[in-house]
This record gives sequence, structure tokens and C-alpha cells, in this order.
Amino acid sequence: MQTTSWVPLFPEQASTFAWQVDALYFYLIAVSIAFTVPIVAAIVFFALKYRETEKFATPEEMHGSMVLETVWSIIPFVISMTIFLGGAIIFFNQYTPPDDAMEIYVVGKQWMWKIQHQTGQREINELHVPVGRKVKLTMTTEDVIHDFDIPAFRTKADVVPGRYTYLWFEATKTGKYHLFCAEYCGLNHSGMIGSVIVMEQRDFDNWLSGTVSGQTPVEAGKDLFENKLGCASCHAGGQGQRGAVLEGIVGKDVKLVGGTSLTRDDQYLRNSILNPSAQVVEGYQPIMPTFKGQVTEEQLNSLVAYIKSLSPNAATGAATAPATNSAAPMAANTNSAPKPAAPAGNSNK
Ligand code: CUA
Repeated sequence: MQTTSWVPLFPEQASTFAWQVDALYFYLIAVSIAFTVPIVAAIVFFALKYRETEKFATPEEMHGSMVLETVWSIIPFVISMTIFLGGAIIFFNQYTPPDDAMEIYVVGKQWMWKIQHQTGQREINELHVPVGRKVKLTMTTEDVIHDFDIPAFRTKADVVPGRYTYLWFEATKTGKYHLFCAEYCGLNHSGMIGSVIVMEQRDFDNWLSGTVSGQTPVEAGKDLFENKLGCASCHAGGQGQRGAVLEGIVGKDVKLVGGTSLTRDDQYLRNSILNPSAQVVEGYQPIMPTFKGQVTEEQLNSLVAYIKSLSPNAATGAATAPATNSAAPMAANTNSAPKPAAPAGNSNK
């Protein structure tokens, strides 16, 4: 870690993205220098060489050059396309979270980062992750737009009220790295900072088991669903069923009233809880009450995690399924909270 007091020119490279972003950045600098230096030199050279030697001189006329025009079209084309392709590849790579990533929830709030792991542990302004493992952050905010920024990982993403945004990374080096809010969000924006602590898998497992954990998001969501919010009274099978049964729906396409269709993902689940009459599934009445204002962002995350756990085979449910990474025995045990979905249905008799 940095022990000297001077500010380093570049943050450490601590994720698989870091060298890619830096390579593109250095390429941009090289291109800028390659243009700036000859242009400035030519200005100086021509200013001296063609300085005024006689009054009202008429220069020789010149009538185009095919070679010159071709060259100055092709070279900038190649340069701009390499910049575009480099940027596009890195962008798609960074903003397409892999299915086998370990999922962690982030909720931004003026002025702190609230983080919750799949095993239930919570932390504030600190994010512990294992090294060499893909991690996906599912993020939202309770108030205004924030931006989750980890310079050493060369990645950041806006955190937007009313929707989920995602960030993923794979840390390559253990250590402690800066976490910033990179979007002005009010008075204490500059204080909305923290640390990302990258640990060896074994240390991470120890840390997880040594930290007090409450309910896992899936357990908390189940509790809300069955008891606190009473969702089960309509959504469980049996006599009281008026809403859709939610087992196995995530990741599947569905037809809506009005003829459109969509894939049921995190965002759809969230919308259906907060604004249920906006996207009514064909064959159902818009009778579900809104839960806007009754659930916090963290409770929403839990509900979504629980509903996703009822669809263990869905691609988007990868995060709630037991970790596929062989190096996570401890996390895997507590992670697989999704128990057979039956109890939700039976509790309603
Ligand atoms: Cu949160 Cu700036």
C-alpha cells in the first residue's frame, strides 16, 4: 500500500479491468502527443520559414493532392476506430455482469454506502470481497443519485433512485482501496467515502463467519413476504390465491395486458411491488395494492432476493443460488437459504 505522503499519479491496478482501461488511456495520450508535437513544431517552423520577406507577395497556387488527401483520411479513420473499438469492448465487458458472480447489495444514502452480503452481513462504507472472484454489485439509492467508484478497479457506475444499476469486478490483488462517491450529491458528498478490502478467500470466509449476521436477504424477504407484508395471502397457492404464484417465474418471458411482453428480472419485480398496476400480467386483474412508501430499499432488495430464490434455475437467479466457486465452502453453506418453495404455499391454509 501507499505509505509515502505524495499523491500517486495513478491508482494501483487491482482488478482485471485496470490494465485495459489504462492501456486505452495511454493510447489516447500517445495519440494526443503524436498530433500535438508535430503540429506545434510545424507552426513554429512555417512561421519562421514563410515569414514576410517582401510586401504583398503572391504565393504559388496549389491544386490538391490525391495522395495527401487519402493519407489524411485513412490515418484519422484508423485512429478513431481503434479508440472506438477499444472503448466499446471495455464498456461491454465492464457493464455485462457474468452469471456466476457473487452478488452483493449496495444502497446509497446521503451520505453513506450501505452494503449487504448474501449471507446477511451488513457493513457501512466498507466492502469486503475475496480476491480472484467475480463480484456483482446490485445497487440502488434511498434518495438522490450517487456514483459508486473504485479507482483501483477502474470501474464506477451511477446509483439511481427507483431502479437497479449493476457493477462487477474481479479483484486481482489483496489490499485496501479507496471507495468514493463520484456524483455530487449534496453537502457531505466529499465525505461519502470508504474502503474496499480485498482478502484471500480463506480470510474472507473467516471475516464472514466472524461478523454478526442477521437474516440473509432471502430469509428477510421470506419473512416480509409471509408475515410482515402479507404478500403470501394472495400469492401463495390455495384458497386465498388471487395474485400470481411466484415460483419459477424469474427469467421467463411474460405477456402483459395490452399485448406487450417482457422478461421478468430484478427491475420487473421491483416495479411490480412499488407500482403493481403499471405492468399487469395477462389474465390478472390490477388489484394488487402498491407498497410504495411501506418498504425501504433494503427490504425491497430482500423481497427481490426471496422471489428470485423461488426460481433457482433462472439465469438472473445465479446470485442467490449457492456459490459455484469451489473456493467458498463457508459462504456456500449459508448462501443456499432458498429452501424448497413449498412452505410459502402451505402456510396459507
Ligand atoms: Cu453520494 Cu456524492
